[in-house]
Formats: sequence, structure tokens, C-alpha cells
Amino acid sequence: MFDVQKIREDFPILSREVYGKPLVYLDNAATTQKPLCVLDAMRDEYLNVNANVHRGVHYLSQQATDLHEAAREKVRSFINARKIEEIVFTRGTTEAINLVASSFCESQMKAGDEVLVTEMEHHSNIVSWQLQAQKRGIVVKHLPITDDGRLDLSILTSHLSPRTKLISVAHVSNVLGTINPVEDIIKIAHEHGIPVLVDGAQSAPHMKIDVQAMDCDFFAFSGHKMYGPTGIGVLYGKEEWLEKLPPYQGGGEMIDKVTWEKTTFERLPFKFEAGTPDYVATHGLATAIDYLNRVGLDSIKSYEEELTRYCMEQLQTIDDMHIYGPTTTTSVGFPAGKDAVVSFNVGTIHHLDMGTLLDRLGIAVRTGHHCAQPLMDRLGISGTVRASFAMYNTKEEIDTLVAGIRRVSQMF
Ligand SMILES: Cc1ncc(COP(=O)(O)O)c(C=O)c1O
Repeated sequence: MFDVQKIREDFPILSREVYGKPLVYLDNAATTQKPLCVLDAMRDEYLNVNANVHRGVHYLSQQATDLHEAAREKVRSFINARKIEEIVFTRGTTEAINLVASSFCESQMKAGDEVLVTEMEHHSNIVSWQLQAQKRGIVVKHLPITDDGRLDLSILTSHLSPRTKLISVAHVSNVLGTINPVEDIIKIAHEHGIPVLVDGAQSAPHMKIDVQAMDCDFFAFSGHKMYGPTGIGVLYGKEEWLEKLPPYQGGGEMIDKVTWEKTTFERLPFKFEAGTPDYVATHGLATAIDYLNRVGLDSIKSYEEELTRYCMEQLQTIDDMHIYGPTTTTSVGFPAGKDAVVSFNVGTIHHLDMGTLLDRLGIAVRTGHHCAQPLMDRLGISGTVRASFAMYNTKEEIDTLVAGIRRVSQMF
């Protein structure tokens, strides 16, 4: 049974106050709070196990290595990858995308070859490719979005060319909440022999991910957005692709043999993991995955859908409310293909003013361009107010948000 009050007890920060008001934390797309079990697991590792991993002959090093590699297996099973060799630890989604951009462009692309992204991407899935465009002359193209913030797949093939070498697309938009039909995109891409990278930063915390069923070639996500620690993320890559890509960074851990003449590299996934990994964070991430599994991603998904639907309904009762992204509802009233993110503006009130005044009421929302400036340009705005939900949010908190917005609106 999904019991939100019981879940909230696992997150002590949620009962703190800001400006003398109970905290209403609605900035979960930026980062989620951490349950006690994650904090305890990491503290326990530093207190009792801490030692550098791999190659250590001593007891603590082996114990730390076991925890670190157990975390890799936990991640493998979380996203249903075939092998642990396909799980590369990174600092986060951004580093995972940069890794693919750098290694893929170096080995698989020539000047004039194209990568296709979409108009709703986070900067990490734009700028990583633009850097390669500057270095190697590749071309970054984008698939436009519809007025209600979705992708129109009927125009996908017209944006492909014989020079398209990769498609890189967000699973869920961090601004619009749109859940993109990645399976369909992948199917079409594969018919044209094009691999696909899925940016799962905003999907992994909210829905079951099965990379084999999705058939993506790469999948990237961040630990800190799914109740885990900061500084740890994952790149999943199909083994055959990871084998083809050269290392991203050089250093310890990733080598097989080093001589002055030549260096050979470790097997997968270590080839891509230069330097001491954040082995405490991997253990924290594994503990967060256990937590997510205990609550159950299906329960989380339906609860967050209910919250999102309720939030949309309540916001729409406010005068001059403009919600961005999918708003049309299905028979159950839930906006089709919308995740736990609601972006809006009210009349001509600047998003920054709205966010600052809501903050004084204890309500934490994010304002601005949300690292998606090309999307803001498409929408013709400088930014939005964004409320984003996690499994611990409640309808009462949404009521507080809506009352706060009304109060702020009356000031203008
Ligand atoms: C869709 C999307 N992609 C990538 C990122 C980057 O994630 P990180 O900063 O954890 O690397 C974010 C973060 O907000 C995101 O929402």
C-alpha cells in the first residue's frame, strides 16, 4: 500500500521550515531529497568500510569493491540491461552524454555528419554536441516540437539524411513534462540504421525503465534526481557500441598495460571509468534503487500521475494561467504523455517574481529557462515557473502552491 505519510518520515528535511513556514518542496526535477537509508548507507561506508576500490589486496578494499560492483549489478537489474559490462558509472547524465558525444563523434563521425536532437532538449543534450561540432565539424540538427509541446513523428524521417549518424532525445522533457515516444523513435531510427541515445534524467525516477524492451543504444541518467547522492550517474550502452567507442578520459583504473610506447585499455566497463570512482556514491545509488523498488515504480507512477493531474486541474482555475506542454486530457483526465512536471506563467507576472514570492511562503519551485533556452525561444518566453513532483509530495502541498499563486497574483 502506497502510504505517502509513511514515505515522508523517511525524508526528515521535508518537515523543516523556511521563513517560519512549512517547506513545500516542488523542485524535484532539479534534484530530489534523500531518504535516511541512503544517508545511513553512505555514512556507514565512510565509517566502517572506506578504502579505494579494485586491485586492493586488503580486506577493506575488497569489501568496498564488493559494494561498488554490487551497485553496478543493482543498476543493471534496475534498467534491465543484459550485462554489467554495459553499465558505466559517470558523474551524472551530463557526463554520460558528453562521453558518448566525444567518443562517438571521434570514432563514428566525420565532418558534415549529422546528429539529430529535438527542440525540447536540456542544454546537456545540445551543448555536448555543439562542442563536437566546433571540434570536428559535425552538424547538430533538431526536430521541431508541436505547439502543445510534443514531437510529431510523422516528420521524423524527413529530418533524417544519409549523414545522420545518431539521434539523441530526452525521454521526458524537464520543462514540459512530455513523455516522448522513444520506442517509436528508436524503431524508425533503427530502420535507417541509426543508433539512439535516450536522456533518461527525468524518466528514471518516475517509471520502470527496460533498456532491452526500449532497444535504445545508450541511456543516461543521474542518481541525485532519483533519491540518490549527487555526483553519480550512469551511462548504459549496448555492449557492441561500447566496444566500438574509444576511451573518454585517460588515467588509472581504465588501463590494461602502460608503457612509454603504447597503452592498452581495460575491458568494459572500466575502459570508460578513469580515476578513482565515487564508490560511496555508487553504494548510495544502489540503496536509493532498493528504496524505489521497495515502494514500487508502478505505485510511484500512478501516485505522481494523480498529483500531476490534480495540480493541472487546480492551476487551470487561476485567471490568466498559462501551462506549457501537453494539457489535453485522456479519458481518465490525465494529460496524455505528461510526467510529474508542470511549467506555467500567470499573466504578465515575471517567473522570477512569482518564484521569489512563493519562496517567501515556503514553496520551493524553479524559475527561469531550466537549461533549455532553445525551447524557451520556441515558446517565445524567457522562462517559466516549474513545479515538479516526487513520491513524497501531497495534494495538500499542491493546495498550498495554488493558494500561494493566487496570493502572489493579487499583488500585481
Ligand atoms: C532532461 C535532462 N537532461 C539532463 C540533465 C542533466 O542532469 P545532471 O545535471 O544531473 O547531469 C537534466 C537535469 O536537469 C535534465 O533534466
